[in-house]
Amino acid sequence: MANLIIVGAQWGDEGKGKIVDIYTEYAQDVVRFQGGNNAGHTLVVGDQKTVLHLIPSGILHEGKRCIIGNGVVLDPKVFLEEIEGLKKKGYLQDDRQLMVDGAVNLIMPYHKRIDIARELKSGAKKIGTTGRGIGPTYEDKVGRRGIRFADLLKPETFKRKLHEVLAEKNFYLENFLDEQPLDEQEISDEYLGYAEKLRCYLGRASTEIDRAIKAGHNILFEGAQGSLLDVDHGTYPYVTSSSTVAGGACTGAGIGPSLITDVIGISKAYVTRVGEGPFPTELHDEMGERLRAAGHEFGATTGRPRRTGWLDIVALKEAVRTNGLTGIALTKMDVLNDLETIKVCTAYKHGERLLEEFPQDFDILRECTPVYEEVAGWQSDINAVQKYAELPQQVRDYVDKIEAWTGCPVVLVSVGPRRDQTIQRINPFAEKN
Ligand code: IMP
Repeated sequence: MANLIIVGAQWGDEGKGKIVDIYTEYAQDVVRFQGGNNAGHTLVVGDQKTVLHLIPSGILHEGKRCIIGNGVVLDPKVFLEEIEGLKKKGYLQDDRQLMVDGAVNLIMPYHKRIDIARELKSGAKKIGTTGRGIGPTYEDKVGRRGIRFADLLKPETFKRKLHEVLAEKNFYLENFLDEQPLDEQEISDEYLGYAEKLRCYLGRASTEIDRAIKAGHNILFEGAQGSLLDVDHGTYPYVTSSSTVAGGACTGAGIGPSLITDVIGISKAYVTRVGEGPFPTELHDEMGERLRAAGHEFGATTGRPRRTGWLDIVALKEAVRTNGLTGIALTKMDVLNDLETIKVCTAYKHGERLLEEFPQDFDILRECTPVYEEVAGWQSDINAVQKYAELPQQVRDYVDKIEAWTGCPVVLVSVGPRRDQTIQRINPFAEKN
């Protein structure tokens, strides 16, 4: 029995969707525990491409249970669109395959409007959010004025809560953000219109997971975004508003830490970031463009071009520590196919000081310059390689170095977007079965 958490080990977009999809084969239940439709997984099954923002990608596997834990924030409109899209493609034929915790906080129209208007007003100081209302929804959750999924299914409760909160939101929208106020009746009609279609998905993640564990299931906890976007441990304030590190799975799904058996961090063989915020190894030159083009580095959610840079071991070590990683899955190795040499940042220089730990102080981090080591590239096409031993020596040397620098085993190497372009060195599920 394994209870495995998958997290992004960088700033998101590490290719988690594909790895979750692969590990789902061994799990009976897949759980999301934080974030919302700011995430975006692009999945390629055969020749069919599916983009999911909210529903765990495990939904593409027949018979797997997908649970949206209490730590997630949910936009019911997006959720329903995803459900309908999946059903049209022949997935989710049985509604019991999907469950939403009643304590999930709803993303409301005012959250989205506030998110976008605040960014506009912030000008150069903007966070670069996805504009999906994520931050404002978490603010209301912690401020104890959130409207939860279970409230939506009780019309009188929903209307009362909406009435209570909307006056404050409209005041803020009109008087601080110079925005139009929102109409209470319109929101009420729209949201209550979704309610009956969503009722069948109501459940409780914690008890469901407990039952699954007692039945001997393997459970996969699917993180969204990345560790460096964590609201506590990330590059604050340029972060998302949830706990993206592994601990978030415990609070966001209602499982105790003693029951977690593995934590796998997904890292690209280089680094990308969308939105604003410090990024010490960012490349502003032709090499950055090359990585962006070769890696198709454009956001799955917003379509924004991603910032690109060399692999940052200082940042990766931070992810190993804050998540307690038991393994690293290295993705997009094939994007480096053509390079003669590859640079890896192993420390930062701040003034005269050499830093081997990721600085918590934002101003220090912004002033750091990377110290690089160069490793030899392989200059060959590795996309069809099936066995680790058949990878060019330079690829295996790169992996060995990453393991040595981080002190964490590399359990998987991905050499292309398809499921069959994945080399598993250690299978955390197989070991426990
Ligand atoms: P928010 O989550 O929309 O509030 O955005 C906050 C920051 O997190 C911005 O820099 C976003 O670009 C970033 N972000 C949010 N979700 C993702 C993701 O799934 N991948 C990468 N970056 C993300």
